[in-house]
Amino acid sequence: MSEKIILNKSVYIKKLKKLINQSDIRLIKDKINHITHSINNNDHVSNGIDNSGEHPDTINISKNYILNELTQIEKTRTIERTKYYIQRLIKSISEIKTNKVNDINLNRWKEYDNIITDSLWLLPKRDSYGVHASWYWGNFIPQIPHQLMLRYTKSGDLVVDPFIGSGTTLLECLRLKRNGIGVELNKEIAKKTKQILKKGEQYITEDELSDTNSAIDYTVKTIVEIGDSTELDFKKLLRKHGFTSAQFLLLHPPYHDIIKFSDHPNDLSAQKEIEGFIAMFCKVIDNISPILDKGRYMAIVIGDKYSNGEWIPLGFYVMNELLKRSFKLKSIVVKNFEDTLAKRNQKELWRYRALTGGFYIFKHEYILLFKKK
Ligand SMILES: C[S@@+](CC[C@H](N)C(=O)[O-])C[C@H]1O[C@@H](n2cnc3c(N)ncnc32)[C@H](O)[C@@H]1O
Repeated sequence: MSEKIILNKSVYIKKLKKLINQSDIRLIKDKINHITHSINNNDHVSNGIDNSGEHPDTINISKNYILNELTQIEKTRTIERTKYYIQRLIKSISEIKTNKVNDINLNRWKEYDNIITDSLWLLPKRDSYGVHASWYWGNFIPQIPHQLMLRYTKSGDLVVDPFIGSGTTLLECLRLKRNGIGVELNKEIAKKTKQILKKGEQYITEDELSDTNSAIDYTVKTIVEIGDSTELDFKKLLRKHGFTSAQFLLLHPPYHDIIKFSDHPNDLSAQKEIEGFIAMFCKVIDNISPILDKGRYMAIVIGDKYSNGEWIPLGFYVMNELLKRSFKLKSIVVKNFEDTLAKRNQKELWRYRALTGGFYIFKHEYILLFKKK
């Protein structure tokens, strides 16, 4: 997100309201220009802040956002338009408008330039915030849970991930102050993930202490449960940890047998046939769906596979299963993925194979977004 500045809310609203009562457009624009200067120069006195930067009536606002709004006011040609934009700025400073599924302040929607709204996600490299690391083959990049939680959850909501792996979702829960429960079949991995989560908690606490603006007192629970999501009673699991329902479900299943995670008979990656994989996946969906509140979202992150000279559209198979249930498809996001090291070393070979075999080399996976009816 862009640079933030602290403003004294009441001082600003008073200044702007005074301008609304003026009838001379030039005078209004002069005053707006003065405000722009004080913001540009981080002039604490004009911005109504004492030296410590603290004041009971302060707001944290994106510098770019407020400067753009002020420029727009300066560019207006009629007094009606000038006053309309000033009124809009007053509203965006004084009122918070959110919807039911996230904390985005819609009165200041232009401020959220970090949130992706397009269906094509081209993410060049993984975010390395905190204790995130790429030790687990088959993990996803932290930007996936990060972006999804910003769009589909509020602080304090509960996020459940039935294929938690190395805990990427839970580390992002900690960072964004969401509660999180992750289930993992593989005991060894789950143990390691628990340890990483502890380090993550420590990191977040220290990071917060160095960031005076964050809500330090907002505590959330993040839990790793060893279990089989095809058999688990998710309602019981939630009750055990003091929750009654979940507000977001994030599923990142194995892409069938592309990576074999274990030999456990209920490991989705150990299923011999596609039909078996889909059947197991459906069991997880039917187990987990009842805990999701109506009107809230589920995301499935999945890629396709190639087998015996044929493209197997795992993503579309999975999507079709969801459409048979009480879910509305909200988006199909296509996300790029970078080559694995092994594939990078064999780039030429893969090009040759593609040219002779009549196929394209995988460079994308899907994020399927559903809303519970
Ligand atoms: C694609 S990985 C998830 C990676 C995770 N998003 C991360 O960032 O580390 C899928 C995970 O599902 C687990 N898994 C497979 N079958 C399962 C089942 N029946 N119940 C719970 N976990 C399962 C695998 O052990 C593996 O860790």
